[in-house]
Amino acid sequence: MSNKIWRVVDLLDWTVGYFQQHGIPNPRLDAEVLLAHLLEKTRLQLYLHFEMPVFQEHLTPFRELIKKRIAHTPVSYLTNRKEFMSLDFYVDERVLIPRPETEQLVETILTTKTENSQRLLELGTGSGVIATSLALQQPEWEIVATDISESALTVAQKNAETHACTERIKFLSGDLFEPIEAINTNRNTRFDWIVCNPPYVKNTERDTLSPDVRDYEPEIALFAGDDGLVVIRRLIAEAPKHLAPGGKLIFEIGERQADSVRALIDAESTYCTYELFKDYAEKERIVLASVP
Ligand SMILES: C[S@@+](CC[C@H](N)C(=O)[O-])C[C@H]1O[C@@H](n2cnc3c(N)ncnc32)[C@H](O)[C@@H]1O
Repeated sequence: MSNKIWRVVDLLDWTVGYFQQHGIPNPRLDAEVLLAHLLEKTRLQLYLHFEMPVFQEHLTPFRELIKKRIAHTPVSYLTNRKEFMSLDFYVDERVLIPRPETEQLVETILTTKTENSQRLLELGTGSGVIATSLALQQPEWEIVATDISESALTVAQKNAETHACTERIKFLSGDLFEPIEAINTNRNTRFDWIVCNPPYVKNTERDTLSPDVRDYEPEIALFAGDDGLVVIRRLIAEAPKHLAPGGKLIFEIGERQADSVRALIDAESTYCTYELFKDYAEKERIVLASVP
């Protein structure tokens, strides 16, 4: 980037070419999102200001963002933003970047809930997107959200504050059901829903992940042992004793885990029914299991 006057259009074209040279998968989208973020504009506004000059005060930090992006830092960690259920969430390296397919967990809960649905437990809340979007949709629900990562919980709390629902979500830290058991010694709190987007990548699949994911997202949010089922197995085995009569466990799985998960639920006599839902790519990714 020499001393010439850079207009928005020149800067975008140059950045797209540079990203292409470095094998960045969505070069134009990424260039637009990063420049819009820096100039505090929407992508549409960028188009409306294509001829606008961009001065040094923005060129220098833009150069830094470009450097980080070609080192594969995910765009959402550079902008500290990710949209989920049409809401804006803060994200950084302490949490997994929420994926669009996870919205289906929330949508399935909202379409299957009954009048008895009152208490919901989310395990592994990460950035808190599931708990927060449900708290906003169902203000009367009691929601408990947990994570083994204290630093993830800090991000989840920040997001709950931004969306003004800290009063409606109790955040607890610890391993899976352990924080619930600690506060529920007489076992009289049971949940109508238990929801979880667990880590489910096999340790052996590490090298198949894109560097954006493998080198930047928290390991604890991704990997679950040699078969990817370490957390899911515990979830299926332990959830029933925390579910109220008629309660439901809903969780996300990896795209090649449906058969293994069916076998795990079939072996657990406490569930009366279960079904798997396909995502938009026709892969079975959501499991919904009920207790009598
Ligand atoms: C795949 S991320 C999901 C984050 C968020 N719920 C979402 O959907 O974007 C999994 C989360 O589970 C947490 N986690 C991993 N193992 C856990 C465990 N044994 N107990 C509780 N949380 C766990 C991780 O810290 C991470 O935040």
